[in-house]
Amino acid sequence: PPVSLLGAPTDVGAGHRGAGLGPEALRIAGLPEALVARGIDLIDRGNIDGPRNPWTPPDDGYRHLKEVTDWNRMVMHAVEAELDAGRMPILLGGDHCLGVGSITAVARHCRKTGKKLRVLWLDAHADFNTHNVTPSGNIHGMPVACLCGLGPRELTHLGGDAPAMSAGDIRQIGIRSVDEGEKRLVKEHGLDVYDMRYIDEVGMKRAMEEALDGVDDNTHVHVSFDVDFLDPSIAPGVGTTVPGGPNYREAQLVMEMIADSGRMGSLDIVELNPLLDAQNATAKLAVDLVESLFGKSTLMRD
Ligand code: ARG
Ligand code: MN
Ligand code: MN
Ligand code: MN
Repeated sequence: PPVSLLGAPTDVGAGHRGAGLGPEALRIAGLPEALVARGIDLIDRGNIDGPRNPWTPPDDGYRHLKEVTDWNRMVMHAVEAELDAGRMPILLGGDHCLGVGSITAVARHCRKTGKKLRVLWLDAHADFNTHNVTPSGNIHGMPVACLCGLGPRELTHLGGDAPAMSAGDIRQIGIRSVDEGEKRLVKEHGLDVYDMRYIDEVGMKRAMEEALDGVDDNTHVHVSFDVDFLDPSIAPGVGTTVPGGPNYREAQLVMEMIADSGRMGSLDIVELNPLLDAQNATAKLAVDLVESLFGKSTLMRD
């Protein structure tokens, strides 16, 4: 399908400044050209213009809740407009709080079109904190909880009268940093987590087969790619690095297996922070992986 790039240059949900430079870093690393070279009909819609980052401390367990909500509302509308037009949105973050708006739009679209939703959350973190348990108040650590109905009403009900999804709709891959209170919530809500321990034991191939199990012709797969999913030795340009992530080959396999499913309908690329990088190398790696997500193969396969 045709693809649209949507930039959301903000770091309002993060604890470091710089993720707001992500969209431009991805463009400069050649993302548009790489997609066009895949034969994709591409429109770059430019950037969404949201509130500035006030850079104030958390209030009642949330930092910048109002600005986070404003950004997410704009992202939701922008993503929804692309889906309604039959185009595949690629959200260029921005920090991962934007997953709330993006996935709320996707979930609404699935409801309208009678599709099943499967979210693949590629991340070092579960992002399942609430204001009671968050160690930081940073809302980029909370989007999965919000999408499942745990959180402030302005985010849990961004799309209307009900939370966007349930825990059964999501598979988390690459997880290796979960806060103490967050762990309890993850277990309580029965999230399907393919953490690094599991990936070490069974291998990435089997983990991905399981994460994609049940995806059929009527499934919309949404990929939420937090760049800190990758091992920091290959992807240092993110605010919250955690050692022990997927290496280059494992990451390629993840992308290729998602491409092989043929069901990806939307994508977020978030948390890229070029200020913490050198020579924009992490953005270039992200572009390389996104090419695989769009079917570029390292071997002569068809
Ligand atoms: N768990 C930590 C927190 O809640 C880190 C979250 C990092 N999230 C992210 N999307 N990078 O503060
Ligand atoms: Mn609509
Ligand atoms: Mn994340
Ligand atoms: Mn993360």
